[in-house]
Amino acid sequence: MMTETYQLNTGGKNVQERQDKYFIITYGCQMNVHDSEKIAGMMEENGYIKSVNLEEADIILLNTCIVRENAELKVLGKIGSLKRLKKKNKNLIIAVGGCMMQSSEAVSIIKEKYPQVDLVFGTHNLHRLPKLIENVKNERMRTIEIWDKDKGLIPELPHLRGDKHKAWISIIQGCNNYCTYCIVPYVRGRERSRHPENIIQEIKNLSKEGVKEITLLGQNVNSYGKDFENEIDFADLLMKINNINLIERIRYMTSHPRDFSDKLIYSIKKGSKICEHFHLPVQAGSTSVLNKMNRGYTKEEYLGLIKKIKDSIPDASITTDIIVGFPGETEEDFQETIEVVRTVRFDMAYTFIYSPRTGTPAADIQEQVSEDVKNNRLQRLMKIQNEISLENNQQMKDKIVEVLVDGESKNNPDMLSGRNRNNKLIIFPAEKDIIGKLVNVKINRISSFTLYGEIY
Ligand code: 5AD
Ligand code: SF4
Repeated sequence: MMTETYQLNTGGKNVQERQDKYFIITYGCQMNVHDSEKIAGMMEENGYIKSVNLEEADIILLNTCIVRENAELKVLGKIGSLKRLKKKNKNLIIAVGGCMMQSSEAVSIIKEKYPQVDLVFGTHNLHRLPKLIENVKNERMRTIEIWDKDKGLIPELPHLRGDKHKAWISIIQGCNNYCTYCIVPYVRGRERSRHPENIIQEIKNLSKEGVKEITLLGQNVNSYGKDFENEIDFADLLMKINNINLIERIRYMTSHPRDFSDKLIYSIKKGSKICEHFHLPVQAGSTSVLNKMNRGYTKEEYLGLIKKIKDSIPDASITTDIIVGFPGETEEDFQETIEVVRTVRFDMAYTFIYSPRTGTPAADIQEQVSEDVKNNRLQRLMKIQNEISLENNQQMKDKIVEVLVDGESKNNPDMLSGRNRNNKLIIFPAEKDIIGKLVNVKINRISSFTLYGEIY
């Protein structure tokens, strides 16, 4: 644990007591989005109100990501740009937390080069945020507090959720996998499962408040329960949640292909509320690269798992994450990734250029792939995947799908948008009073990423 405080230069003026509006900027994955809901919950509980824009905020909180270099650069760029607001409002508090702050290197950079930052906190002491803010406010102290691990218990924190009809539920924190490219286990710590009673109670409460869809969150949800003495695994948890009245849909992310058991496939097939969407990051197609990544499965094992899922649940939608340009990846290795993409025919793939992360084993491998080659592979991969996504979506034409209506479409404000059980984005014209409801939509037009239709 590291705690440091420094006297802030407030120009000798008295500090006003009017720090009541907060603005959160979130980077990175769904875990971070969910942590930001917890930050918002704590802020509201402590009397702050949400600011509609950055300029009017009295406290700006950045919830950061470190998973790839460009995520870090974005954060630093943003902090740099906030300096102008600090000049306008000396009492503005800038707080930076999240995964990037679990890296001592990143904290040193903030300490040395970004004096506008008043507060630095990490992922393990999120619950201490109100206390730390009080410290900054009352003492005008620059405060840096990072814990290198949590103290065993995951505190139950309030949330301010973005949606009324769907909710994220954290079920396991941390990751024990140590994929050689990935910084997450170093910044999020070892796997700690949340107690099933707390999870079930939270979902029951949410269901009474009108939540219809829940997404269970964890870096590797399939590891759920491995750290408990009493036997409960992820499949058991899913079945317990499947029995909660009023919940209509259950999703989960992210799954590790190595840990996806037959029991789990069976439970997903049996559980009527568990959506037929499998996000299974393959990362690479070549077994040799998968070995070097420490993924724990071969190409054949991954393809075997997909076949088992498709045989058991024919309307399953499969999506994935793929990294191109892992150190030592040859053109032949890359062709094996293409082969997997063409065989599985993913509905969607999140594609990434390998980004060396200091402290991970892969960053020390000598044979790094050049930026040009990485970019070229990414372009080729995306082109093929987009064609497949389009072809898969073409099969959806004239089909009737069940959509949970999320709200106004971002790009077509006069339309509504929602998702079907396969997690495909559907856009259609309708009155806003159906937001939060399940409706049937007939698909009449498609693109690679979106389906369009009419209420049926
Ligand atoms: N470089 C590129 N992509 C990465 N990911 C994780 N670490 C790295 C890295 N160092 C990708 C993986 C993971 C997703 C969340 O981010 O594909 O599944
Ligand atoms: Fe990172 Fe691998 Fe853990 Fe996912 S499973 S968070 S890629 S170490």
